[in-house]
Amino acid sequence: MKVLIVGSGGREHAIAYSVAKSERVDKIYCAPGNAGIGTIAECVAIGAMEFDKIAAFAKEKEIDLVIVGMDDPLVGGLVDVLEAEGIRTFGPRKNAAILEGSKAFSKDLMKKYNIPTAAYENFDSAEEAIEYLHTKAKFPIVLKADGLALGKGVLICNTLEEAEDGVCSIMTDKKFGTAGNRMVIEEFMTGREVSVLSFVDGKTIRIMSSAQDHKRAKDGDQGLNTGGMGNFSPSPFYTEEVDAFCKQYIYQATVDAMAAEGRPFKGVIFFGLMLTPDGPRVLEYNARFGDPEAQVVLPRLKNDIIDVIDACIDGTLDQINLQFDDKATVCVVLASDGYPLKYDKGLPISGLENFEGKDDYFCFHAGTKLAEDGKTFLTNGGRVLGVTANGATLKEARAKAYEATGWVEFANKYMRTDIGKAIDEA
Ligand code: AMP
Ligand code: GLY
Repeated sequence: MKVLIVGSGGREHAIAYSVAKSERVDKIYCAPGNAGIGTIAECVAIGAMEFDKIAAFAKEKEIDLVIVGMDDPLVGGLVDVLEAEGIRTFGPRKNAAILEGSKAFSKDLMKKYNIPTAAYENFDSAEEAIEYLHTKAKFPIVLKADGLALGKGVLICNTLEEAEDGVCSIMTDKKFGTAGNRMVIEEFMTGREVSVLSFVDGKTIRIMSSAQDHKRAKDGDQGLNTGGMGNFSPSPFYTEEVDAFCKQYIYQATVDAMAAEGRPFKGVIFFGLMLTPDGPRVLEYNARFGDPEAQVVLPRLKNDIIDVIDACIDGTLDQINLQFDDKATVCVVLASDGYPLKYDKGLPISGLENFEGKDDYFCFHAGTKLAEDGKTFLTNGGRVLGVTANGATLKEARAKAYEATGWVEFANKYMRTDIGKAIDEA
């Protein structure tokens, strides 16, 4: 088989790694990919939003399967464009990717189908939102831009003034662009956060594994929100009791709700959950693998990923026995100092060869590119590498991951030193 992966981050590198393990696959392409992906796939200079070029490339190379990793092309309808050209594609269609693409949609869906989530109201105008804040709001309160905003469109406001400013920045100043044409105002919840990844075939859902993200830039969950600075999997806080609750009230209910709405979901659903004192609640849905959640979950997948993807596309996931190694995994993101704001790029990276031939260690590339000499790896983004290790326990995996962060160097290397600290509290 020939497989084309769409995207360019650590998630796509982890997907490429899994696809490369499949005996059914002869050739992998990635659009646009990165330097690390380039070691196992052929990267092509086509952007993830260049739908016509992706379709033309897939036809020219007779691609058997396209895997769309990223949120923007999914929400924008790349799967529909490719399917219309007869190209077999893994990922939700546009009418299902809206589960991530519109927070107002996902909140309304949860309300209609009694899926536990924070109480909320949707707003189309800043005036109505501000009126609501004055009359009905309890503080702290959470403001969310409706659309995609790189994980940054959520504001937690402690006072009325802060919340008024927040509404203005989302809806009037359009700080998050058109994502702020609508917004959600919701109840502030407390509790530990857990992410859960799943494969879905439109009817059946198979849970992969739980993980815990570290979204803030600095140690102790300080600093700005980022795409994710590292994570661990499975989460020790995702107990059997939590799992049973989510199976009864959240997972299948979401899949059934989407089907009932005429929007059958095929692909990966990422459940962002909060374990509140009143039980698990959905914080958000994503319509794809998380980044870096993919890096801590896919290295433990025992099935051939192509078999699982085929089952999702064909609606036969009920026949798949999804299996994972009984190990724990920790990923520490090596970022460019200054991320998520301003940082230098184009700096040489050394030591990547230290990962070669080591079974339990992975160095997934996020923002890297090759220098003109075709050999030197250079930094090319805010998140540069995801240094990942498997261990018998979370503690062992964490020690190994942090050990391996010392194997690679670049001039402005920055990381959190407390990824997985919560493991000690478990
Ligand atoms: P989201 O993109 O919706 O997952 O929100 C980003 C982050 O904001 C989450 O990971 C939480 O830390 C926080 N958050 C979102 N919604 C709420 C809420 N209702 N209550 C408390 N924190 C929230
Ligand atoms: N790590 C969170 C996400 O991929 O959205």
